[in-house]
Amino acid sequence: MPSVVFSMLRDLEVSAGMKVLEIGTGTGWNAALLAYRLGLENVTSIEVDAAVADTAREALRRFGLPVRVVTGDGLQGHRADAPYDRIIATCGLRGLPFAWVEQTRPGGLILAPWGTNYVHLDATVRLTVADDGQSASGRFLHPVEFMKLRAQRLAWPEHSEYVPEGAITSAARSSTVISAKDFGVEQFDAAAFAVGLQVRDCVRAVAEKRHGSQPVWFYSSACRSWAAVTFCDHGRKATVYQSGHRSLWDEVEAAWHWWDLSGRPGFGRFGLTVTAEGQTAWLDAPDHPVPLVG
Ligand SMILES: C[S@@+](CC[C@H](N)C(=O)[O-])C[C@H]1O[C@@H](n2cnc3c(N)ncnc32)[C@H](O)[C@@H]1O
Repeated sequence: MPSVVFSMLRDLEVSAGMKVLEIGTGTGWNAALLAYRLGLENVTSIEVDAAVADTAREALRRFGLPVRVVTGDGLQGHRADAPYDRIIATCGLRGLPFAWVEQTRPGGLILAPWGTNYVHLDATVRLTVADDGQSASGRFLHPVEFMKLRAQRLAWPEHSEYVPEGAITSAARSSTVISAKDFGVEQFDAAAFAVGLQVRDCVRAVAEKRHGSQPVWFYSSACRSWAAVTFCDHGRKATVYQSGHRSLWDEVEAAWHWWDLSGRPGFGRFGLTVTAEGQTAWLDAPDHPVPLVG
C-alpha cells in the first residue's frame, strides 16, 4: 500500500549520502524510491525469490534506476556492502536477526515490521544501534500487516487436529467478564499485540460473528492444548472452553489483565532490544521487559 511505503520511508529518516540495505525487493518500487533519493551506489536490495529478483532487476533497469538487487536470504543481511546507515525490511518478522545489528553502523537505524505468531499483525519498530555495536533498541511506531519473511512464516494450526468431533463437551468450562471490545478482536488492536508479547507459542483465530456470538480460538504451537471463548452481545458473560496440558485461556487472560493494569498502552509505549543473545520486548523503557506468562 503506497501510504505504508511512504510512512516507512519517512520513519527511516534518510539523508544524502546514506547507505541503505532493503530486505525484500518485491517489485523494486521501494528500492527505486530509495535510489532516486540517495543515489544508485548507496542502495542494495535483497530478495529471496530468484524469479521475483529477476523481474525487479529488469523493471529497475528499464526504468533507468538499475539498483543492485541481490538474490539471497535477507535474514543474513548482505555483508559485502556493510556497514549500512539504514536497514529497512519490507517483510514481516517474528525474529530480528543480530546480523542486521552487526551490519549497521553505531547510531544507524533498523526499521522493520515485527510481531508474534499470536496474530498476523505486525508493528513497525525502529531500532538504533548502540555505540558499541553490541545491541539495537527502539520503540514500535505503527501497526501494519506485511507478508512474512520466508523462514518465519507460521504453519497455521489445523483445527481438527486440536479439536476433534465432540471435544467441546469434554473441555473444562468457565466464563469471563472481559468483553470482545475490551479484549481486542479487531485487526489492529494494541491489546492483541500486547497479549502476543507475553504468551509464548500461541496462535489466535477470530471466527466469524454469528447471531451476536463471536468465537475466538487459541491453539498452542508447542502442544495440542486449545481454548475457545465465545463473546456475546448484550453484556452476557463469555463462555470459555479449555483443553490440554496448558490452560491457554488462563494465560491469555492473565496477559490481557497485565495490559489493562499497565494503563492499556498503545503500540508506541512498547519497544524492542536485539542483542547477540536474542530479542526482548519492553514497556516504556528497555529495563522494563514485558513479562512472559506461563
Ligand atoms: C511486501 S513484499 C516487498 C515489497 C517491496 N519492497 C516493493 O517495493 O515492492 C515482501 C518481499 O519479501 C520477500 N522476502 C520474503 N522473505 C525474504 C527473505 N528471507 N529475504 C529476502 N526477501 C524475502 C518476498 O519474496 C517478497 O518479495
